[in-house]
Amino acid sequence: MNISLSITKKQKQFIDAAESEVLFGGAAGGGKSYGQTVDALLFALKFPRSKQLILRRTFSELDKSLIRLSLSLFPKEIYTFNASSHTGKFKNGSIIDFGYCASENDVYQYQSAEYDVIRFDELTHFTEAQYVYLISRVRGANGYPKQIKSSTNPGGVGHSWVKRRFIDAAPPAESFRAAGAMTRIFIPSRLSDNSFLSKSDPNYARRLEALPERERRALLLGDWDIFDGQYFSEFSRSAHVCEPFEIPTGWRKYRTIDYGLDRLACLWIAVAPDGVCYVYREYCESNLPISRAALAIRERTPAGEDIYATLAPPDMWHRLQDTGRTKAELFAEHGVNFTKTSNDRECGWLAVKELLSSADGRVRLKFFPTCTEIIRCLPALAIDKLKPTDCANEPHEITHAPDALRGFAIFRVKPNEQGKRASTLWRSDTWEDYLNADELGKKYLIKKYGEPN
Ligand SMILES: Nc1ncnc2c1ncn2[C@@H]1O[C@H](COP(=O)(O)OP(=O)(O)OP(=O)(O)O)[C@@H](O)[C@H]1O
Ligand SMILES: [Mg+2]
Repeated sequence: MNISLSITKKQKQFIDAAESEVLFGGAAGGGKSYGQTVDALLFALKFPRSKQLILRRTFSELDKSLIRLSLSLFPKEIYTFNASSHTGKFKNGSIIDFGYCASENDVYQYQSAEYDVIRFDELTHFTEAQYVYLISRVRGANGYPKQIKSSTNPGGVGHSWVKRRFIDAAPPAESFRAAGAMTRIFIPSRLSDNSFLSKSDPNYARRLEALPERERRALLLGDWDIFDGQYFSEFSRSAHVCEPFEIPTGWRKYRTIDYGLDRLACLWIAVAPDGVCYVYREYCESNLPISRAALAIRERTPAGEDIYATLAPPDMWHRLQDTGRTKAELFAEHGVNFTKTSNDRECGWLAVKELLSSADGRVRLKFFPTCTEIIRCLPALAIDKLKPTDCANEPHEITHAPDALRGFAIFRVKPNEQGKRASTLWRSDTWEDYLNADELGKKYLIKKYGEPN
């Protein structure tokens, strides 16, 4: 018997993913549920007598989506569905149970069950406790792959835990190791990945465009960085996270740090001739004394990488009570010399906003996807309820990398004590000279006119 199905590239990536936990997540209509259903069919055919469970939060959702779709896709010659037990059976002995978990306790229906693969559709509708309990049902001695494969839009009650588990930990489409031997991967899905829908319903995207901002970003763009009270609501992975590239030697490079005994955050930032700042490396570690922090910063800066300045907040120059010395002095003794930046929080955050802004269609701050801590923390900062122009200082652990970035942003937008010349001196002909100049020429122009913006 021949089954003929076409799938999108992203669906193939999802089907081929061999990680223990796979998440297919993003825009509405990207083809996630369809991908799940085809994947379940292929698994059932490839592994005779295999067992799979497909879950939605409620039965009516399940019935309207995956059950209906499987009945239309799975060939009747080899597949029968029992509507009272919600179980599909294949001729080769494989089964698919269709289940739901409306309440927290519904998971116990599966107490004694065993599955090769469990599939969650709309994972963010589930709680983490339900997910963690159910993944313990993935087991068996038949030698078949054991996986949990999920699909979802951003938003929903489980938004935060799903984001933490799959999206914050590693760049998209990159396999990573979680606890023990478990591997995970997040495969982003965009509406534009699904040519089937854009052909059959070309107005769909336009209808999503008309949604309120938050829903629009979640459903149209598949954007995970959304929550109420978010300080940097302008941050979006699609606009601000870029493909990594080799930084040209002539670009000015900075390091910027936030340092306390509890945590060091150091960001390496390069400024392109067109003024775009690229955060191309990060190092964040807890409990480092100054000697080790300085060593770690130096070790991560390859020989020959010319750092123009290492920015640090003014409190690094406070005298320590016991020794009368400053942290800046101690860092310098260990080979890292600081340049003072401003600790004006309000102006600093505004400077970050300014760089992130796409108001004139040109974003001035981008991140390499390997800088996972700053990419996770920046959009997670909440507005301070008592002082809405400031970011909340809680949870404290997410503030370090953004604080380091703030020190850079204010230095760049308002170079204060450095006495740099205003960058308005950069007219279009200066630009042309700059772009045509060799390394020395570029250095000369920067010296003469200040840093470009
Ligand atoms: N490979 C394919 N071949 C034919 N049609 C497809 C394919 N993939 C998706 N579609 C169709 O595109 C539409 C959207 O797909 P699907 O429902 O799987 O998206 P989704 O990402 O699950 O959306 P939502 O986020 O709304 O749940 C559906 O009508 C589906 O049947
Ligand atoms: Mg779906």
